[in-house]
Amino acid sequence: MNNNDYHNRIVESYLSESYRVWFEEEAKYLAAHVARSAVVLDVGSGDGRTINDLLPVTKNITGIDHDTAAIERAKERFKDFPSVHVETADATKIPFEDGRFDFVTCMGVLMNLGKHRTEALREMKRVVKDGGKIILDSFSERSLMERLKAYEAAGVPVKRIEGGAVFFDESIGDNISEQFTEGELRNIFDREGLIIEDMYDGGIVYIFTVSKKNTSLIQ
Ligand SMILES: C[S@@+](CC[C@H](N)C(=O)[O-])C[C@H]1O[C@@H](n2cnc3c(N)ncnc32)[C@H](O)[C@@H]1O
Repeated sequence: MNNNDYHNRIVESYLSESYRVWFEEEAKYLAAHVARSAVVLDVGSGDGRTINDLLPVTKNITGIDHDTAAIERAKERFKDFPSVHVETADATKIPFEDGRFDFVTCMGVLMNLGKHRTEALREMKRVVKDGGKIILDSFSERSLMERLKAYEAAGVPVKRIEGGAVFFDESIGDNISEQFTEGELRNIFDREGLIIEDMYDGGIVYIFTVSKKNTSLIQ
């Protein structure tokens, strides 16, 4: 079982109240913040949970994930939606040209990126158009106990815990799950030249909408 398989186990079988609220609020957030018929890239799309949430708003969706088995399942799931396209690709090397997307969504992924976080954020910034938006979520500093309960219920092989970072066995692939304070997330986005347009505090998660700084105004 890899990271995405355990995530599916939590979503399908061990959904605690706090996770249920997270996913419900996230779906509402996406419906309220993604423009109708927008061209969207979903990074770390897994089996397509976010793509499914986006369908009432837009069907112009591309999903990428480096988990080929998850991408195959998502292909099957969305086979009746000709404008939904999913493919295997890494968030640190997004195979699309600059400025292609109106929106980039990246839900439940930032916390798993570890040392690849900066590269992945740069790639998301590159492929979103000027004036476009990136929507991401992250576990908050209040999430650790809820996460540990979910990992235990789903049998996720936890190796060690350092502060709010949980390290899983390497066999599951993406083996880190981090949490951040609002201030830490603001600093992470600021360092990458991303402006915070909106922030939602969902208890165990924060959801942020960010956009590119207008570099033409910088002397
Ligand atoms: C916790 S799952 C979330 C899946 C989906 N976004 C959702 O919310 O249901 C994290 C996903 O991120 C993917 N992922 C992690 N690092 C990645 C990377 N560097 N490039 C592409 N996908 C990545 C994993 O394969 C996994 O499907």
